[in-house]
Amino acid sequence: MSADTNTFQNLPEGSLKVLQLTDCHLYADTSRCLLGMNTQETLNLVSAMALEQLGTPDMILATGDLVHDASETGYRRLRKQFARFGAPTFCLPGNHDIPEIMARLLNQDGISTIPSTQQGNWSLIFLDSTIPKKPGGHLDESQLKLLEDELQKHPDKHTLVCMHHHPIPVNSAWMDSMALNNPEPLFELLAKHKQVKGILCGHIHQEFEHNYHNLLLLGSPSTCIQFIAGQDKFGLADNPPGYRWLALLPDGEIRSGVELLPEMPEGLEFNSSGY
Ligand SMILES: [Fe+2]
Repeated sequence: MSADTNTFQNLPEGSLKVLQLTDCHLYADTSRCLLGMNTQETLNLVSAMALEQLGTPDMILATGDLVHDASETGYRRLRKQFARFGAPTFCLPGNHDIPEIMARLLNQDGISTIPSTQQGNWSLIFLDSTIPKKPGGHLDESQLKLLEDELQKHPDKHTLVCMHHHPIPVNSAWMDSMALNNPEPLFELLAKHKQVKGILCGHIHQEFEHNYHNLLLLGSPSTCIQFIAGQDKFGLADNPPGYRWLALLPDGEIRSGVELLPEMPEGLEFNSSGY
């Protein structure tokens, strides 16, 4: 799609326009880089591109690894940056985040860490799939209960479930070793609630789209570094930073796509062996 095309054009009335920004990996110090890439600068560029291409969305979903060093300074700055979009913003934690600090600092200025929201014909549920100090993911009993309660509360709403970790393999052994480690109870639960249309993730730093048991599974590029898809070992891709847009239609259809910066920012350390 070209930059002058508005992805949110020609949508039926009642559609929700959603912007996903994920894996921003900010630091307290704005000059710090992740594998040679200045993550604050790339978030600034991706945010500006999203606003220009999409206008103000109906909501923003920030799906984890928001602040790489989990610093209070980083979260405060992120909150102010998100607030400038002027759209309700929902944040969930990734493995680099600390949920308690997020909850303390990301619940003002239109930003929140609440577990769900209902808008129009849709319900969006935000799960915490993190395991303290571990890169992989898990949905503990409290998160599975929260999910079940939300699904039972809103059976007539089309539903998008959001979490940081990917629940099915993405054909990349090193990344799949850090996937959600208990997808079975998740999919068992979702199979009982037919209103669920899709699952949206962060974590994998690459575009991913797959239909699985009538669910649309979406993974997304990071606002900073991207990983090589389909490769068993860690590797940095030369894809620029980007975002995903989603249009949630009133009949339950999900339209979605990703947009990347037109140019690769300089400095990425392609020979890095891990992060
Ligand atoms: Fe990440």
